[in-house]
Amino acid sequence: MAASRSGTPEATRKAILRRIRSRSARGVLPAWSRAPSRRDSRVRRKLLLLLGGHETTANMISLGTLLLLRHPERLALIRDADDPAVIRDAVEELLRYLTIVHLGRRRTALEDIEIAGRTIKAGDGVILLGELANRDPSVFPEPDRLDITRDARRHQAFGAGAHHCVGQPLARMELQAIYPALFRRIPTLRAVGDLDAIPFKYDAVIYGLHELPVTW
Ligand code: HEM
Repeated sequence: MAASRSGTPEATRKAILRRIRSRSARGVLPAWSRAPSRRDSRVRRKLLLLLGGHETTANMISLGTLLLLRHPERLALIRDADDPAVIRDAVEELLRYLTIVHLGRRRTALEDIEIAGRTIKAGDGVILLGELANRDPSVFPEPDRLDITRDARRHQAFGAGAHHCVGQPLARMELQAIYPALFRRIPTLRAVGDLDAIPFKYDAVIYGLHELPVTW
């Protein structure tokens, strides 16, 4: 599966860089292949776009698949849904529940702001933790429960404000296509071995799985 045996994230990054620098990438990424090095700011921006787009979606697919395999009745809801709204709500809830980006976003207050009775002064640094916001019980009742029928659209999995995720429409489109397609095409899909032995990316900024052995 996507998560897989093909290599470590570092190997994936190196393979992508090789491809970017290769002549064969020119048709797809013309500006990149002309850029002299990774230090070039254009390359860095595009790398952010590509790796930010790859690591995130790939981890959402593998982690979401594992989670749904562990909740077969919720998997069946997605697999058997005729209504696209069911899939849309399920994907928003998976984004909320998994909140795979574990890097607190750092911001500086431009003016004094009052939040929950505390004043954050202009110039103060703030670290925004999406995973905590997505477990706020006043917004998401019983936040530790995976409820793919709830309206989770107010989640913070894509961040917020000026630097919110530019790839979110693409990510939503991919996830809304992949989960139902996977479970419809391979209805007997199951994880192999001891689920508790599956290696999680506790050491990564983008949370996910190092691999997900499956069979069908
Ligand atoms: C499930 C998939 C994804 C998740 C959970 C995700 C999550 C995030 C988060 C939390 C941020 C930081 C937002 C902030 O600072 O407030 C971000 C930024 C960003 N994402 Fe995504 N992302 C995903 C997919 C993608 C895709 C598919 C692309 C590109 C094709 C992408 C490109 C970017 C870029 C370029 C930024 C930086 C935006 C900026 O700093 O202005 N992401 N993403």
